Amino acid sequence: MGNVIFNKLPNHIAFILDGNGRWAKKLGLSRTSGHLKGINTLKNIIKEVKNLGIKYMSVYCFSVENFDRPKEEVDFLMDKAYTEFKKIDLKKIDFNIRIIGERTRLDSKMLEAIDQVNSTSFIEDRFTLFVAFNYSSQLEIVNAAKEMKSRKLAFTKENFEKCLYTYPAPFIDLLVRTSHEQRLSNFMLYQASYAELYFPKTLWPAFTKKCLYRALEEYQNRDRRFGKL
Ligand code: IPE
Ligand code: IPE
Ligand code: MG
Repeated sequence: MGNVIFNKLPNHIAFILDGNGRWAKKLGLSRTSGHLKGINTLKNIIKEVKNLGIKYMSVYCFSVENFDRPKEEVDFLMDKAYTEFKKIDLKKIDFNIRIIGERTRLDSKMLEAIDQVNSTSFIEDRFTLFVAFNYSSQLEIVNAAKEMKSRKLAFTKENFEKCLYTYPAPFIDLLVRTSHEQRLSNFMLYQASYAELYFPKTLWPAFTKKCLYRALEEYQNRDRRFGKL
């Protein structure tokens, strides 16, 4: 498909999945239908990324700020997330998965489901998925600082990075945000320091394998200089 160079893939790809509501509105559907379709899209894209052999994938599914949406929408999203977390077959799962974010405002049932998922083994050399849920990059950074203090670690860059939720994953190479909103909305500000940013117009529920390959092509055409010449 397209001109993707398979030996030049990003190590870590991240998605801010945006546009579920607008996708539904365009079709005269409820916002919740957009979220349902968005979950399907996410499952497909996880499969595609994993099949490509990309090692790390992060997805922004619910932000701390999303709690400020109308209660019905928050309740719906919580309900769906809980069902999806519970559906994961913890004995059969063949990749690493970590649900990362704040624990505040999540009920005990949800926390238990998250803890169960996060208790699965983390095996090096296999695909790793980070699901950012009730996530805030600013709070992750504050928490990392607190943790350095409580673990009595010297305040170095290396130690700080050890306290981030995504440790020991490498930082993001390619960050895709759908729906053409060109902002990070408090997502992995530290980990995205040198990420290539890509903002396709496609709304998340309509994001396909073809869109993924287009994003990878775009990434491969970028000149990553890291400050050098
Ligand atoms: C992304 O879609 C999903 C979440 C943030 C939970 P939105 O719900 O933000 O959709 P739009 O931006 O309103 O279209
Ligand atoms: C960012 O999307 C959060 C997630 C994708 C989970 P939003 O739709 O909440 O972001 P803003 O409000 O447009 O910045
Ligand atoms: Mg949005």
